[in-house]
Amino acid sequence: SLVPIVLSGGSGTRLWPLSRQKYPKQLLSFIGEDSLLQATLRRMEGLTDVELGAPLVICNEEYRFVIAEQLRLMGTKGNILLEPVGRNTAPALTLAALAAMRDGGDPVLLVMPADHVIVDVPCFQMAIRAGMGLAAGGAVVTFGITPDSPETGYGYIEAGEALGKGGASRIARFVEKPDRATAQTYLETGSYFWNSGLFMMTASVWLAVIDACRPDISTACRAAWEKGVVDGDFLRVNKEEFLRCPSDSIDYAVMERLAHDDSLPAGVFIPLSAGWSDVGSWDSLWQVLPKDHQGNVSQGDVLLNDCRNVLALSEHRLVACVGIEDMVVIETPDAILVAHMNKTQHVKKIVDDLKRKG
Ligand code: GDD
Ligand code: MG
Repeated sequence: SLVPIVLSGGSGTRLWPLSRQKYPKQLLSFIGEDSLLQATLRRMEGLTDVELGAPLVICNEEYRFVIAEQLRLMGTKGNILLEPVGRNTAPALTLAALAAMRDGGDPVLLVMPADHVIVDVPCFQMAIRAGMGLAAGGAVVTFGITPDSPETGYGYIEAGEALGKGGASRIARFVEKPDRATAQTYLETGSYFWNSGLFMMTASVWLAVIDACRPDISTACRAAWEKGVVDGDFLRVNKEEFLRCPSDSIDYAVMERLAHDDSLPAGVFIPLSAGWSDVGSWDSLWQVLPKDHQGNVSQGDVLLNDCRNVLALSEHRLVACVGIEDMVVIETPDAILVAHMNKTQHVKKIVDDLKRKG
């Protein structure tokens, strides 16, 4: 069977002022009614040929009621695993694997970030079907995106030997967040993909790799899980034990090592061209949203005249833009962002400034 695991820990500071500490981006809706988290769960609908287990959402304590409410509103019966603190994705997945095996089974886990957009759902589901067999066969599977710029915020996958299943290949090399010059050389070879951040493997395979690569993480997570309690749909892990857990990502802790260590399970990737975006900044959101003939995207009470390539969102007041190009205008009750489309990566700096000022 397949258990969807939704990682919902991040805060997305580059989408300020819509995304805040108290309301991170996965809980907001940018396209249609669904929040990014709800859209992630809804992406499973139609996978009727796969035996689907109840999804497991892993998040910080702080967001438990909003997340429970969002699941309830879409009629999804799932479990919510609560982390007392954030320790990044490797510990989160380790807890999820332990939770998924709690009644003795060993399902394939489909690990999905809660804050990504995937436009072409049927294409995504084809890739998941291809991943099922590979993961059930003991591989650690990830999904590769054809890169179009030397982004430094992504993992880079070098394609190895072709496996002939849904275009799958061995991972020859995995490099997490290279510097710009290195990313540029990868882009030029044409044999590298971006890591999408989606993963598939059985629960037992994940536990075996984390035991081998990071026994410190594994030990702390097992102790936190064993001393945890089930509280209705909420699975609570033990805080004291989890506080001892080191922080690391799936990518650094495991993925970078798979290709170089024959004692570990094989790392495999499947190319994915399904309109994927990690919505890391306002311009990447604009990229994937449907636009009018002038390239504008607007939502809420917005008037545009003679504008091109503008993303304008209004929550509260009327926003009017005249004769502007390549701009982002985001209005909320207490803050307004006006930024050049090419500079939206730097919105994070404003958030840092605000934090420093208190
Ligand atoms: N539950 C939980 N707990 N979730 C977490 C935690 C945590 O401590 N930390 C991060 N997450 C969630 C985030 O909310 C996000 O959905 C996902 O896990 C990935 O974490 P990010 O912090 O966004 O990772 P990244 O963007 O730096 O890098 C990852 O994603 C890239 C693609 O977007 C890596 O997998 C890269 O290799 C990949 O290219
Ligand atoms: Mg991310």
